[in-house]
Amino acid sequence: MKEKKNKNIKKEIILSVRNLSKNYRDYDKYLEVLKGLNLDIYKGEIIAITGPSGSGKTTFLNCISTIDSFDDGEVIFDGKNISSMSEKEKNKFRSYNMGFVFQNYNLISVLSALENVQLSLSNKKEHLLNSIQISKEILEKVGLGDRLHNKPDQLSGGEKQRVAIARALVHKPKIVFADEPTGNLDSKSSEDIMNLILQMNQEYGVTFVIVTHNSMVASKAHRVFRLKNGKLEKV
Ligand SMILES: Nc1ncnc2c1ncn2[C@@H]1O[C@H](COP(=O)(O)OP(=O)(O)OP(=O)(O)O)[C@@H](O)[C@H]1O
Ligand SMILES: [Mg+2]
Repeated sequence: MKEKKNKNIKKEIILSVRNLSKNYRDYDKYLEVLKGLNLDIYKGEIIAITGPSGSGKTTFLNCISTIDSFDDGEVIFDGKNISSMSEKEKNKFRSYNMGFVFQNYNLISVLSALENVQLSLSNKKEHLLNSIQISKEILEKVGLGDRLHNKPDQLSGGEKQRVAIARALVHKPKIVFADEPTGNLDSKSSEDIMNLILQMNQEYGVTFVIVTHNSMVASKAHRVFRLKNGKLEKV
């Protein structure tokens, strides 16, 4: 596949994965899920990771985003080796540098769209005073300016995912990790969400790593990789 051009992509590496291995030890079996993966992700690009169910896509995303630990290798984010950070350091690092989007939205049901987004700013002193204003602005950007006070169960799937994208971007992270962001959506909403991701990537220059089964989503990424038999191959 020809790589797509994007003026935002600088040939500066934001995330470097070296020789990453991860195994699960279950009751009676030992599962080698990731077998020495290497990947350099550049600032401003959108990467799609595809692969069969159970191939380790979520495991890979969790390992490179500090959520999960791994057995061997290194993950270097913006020059910092995240493998050697303590849990406390990882939490802080994540809340400043990373945003997350999940298949099932992971919104807090008792909070409004605005409050769900505001929560991402709650441990950042510099944003506390104007967190309502900043959260409103990003919700307007994702097309939900008129749904600020609705709770998740009063929103459609596509709208919930827009709230989740606003929440992932409100603190201006350098990278957003999305695990099957269109997995619960119909094809029209999936396309709208992917177009929103493209727009946010262009406007804010945020790097996206998207795990997806959806060929439309993968076709819009700048580079696509397939995870199979514990290895990552370029599509
Ligand atoms: N905590 C765990 N303990 C043991 N095995 C696990 C654990 N988490 C995942 N696995 C196994 O590791 C493999 C990879 O799982 P993972 O969730 O990363 O796959 P995936 O590619 O994201 O699949 P899907 O497309 O269905 O979401 C699977 O065989 C799964 O059963
Ligand atoms: Mg998964």
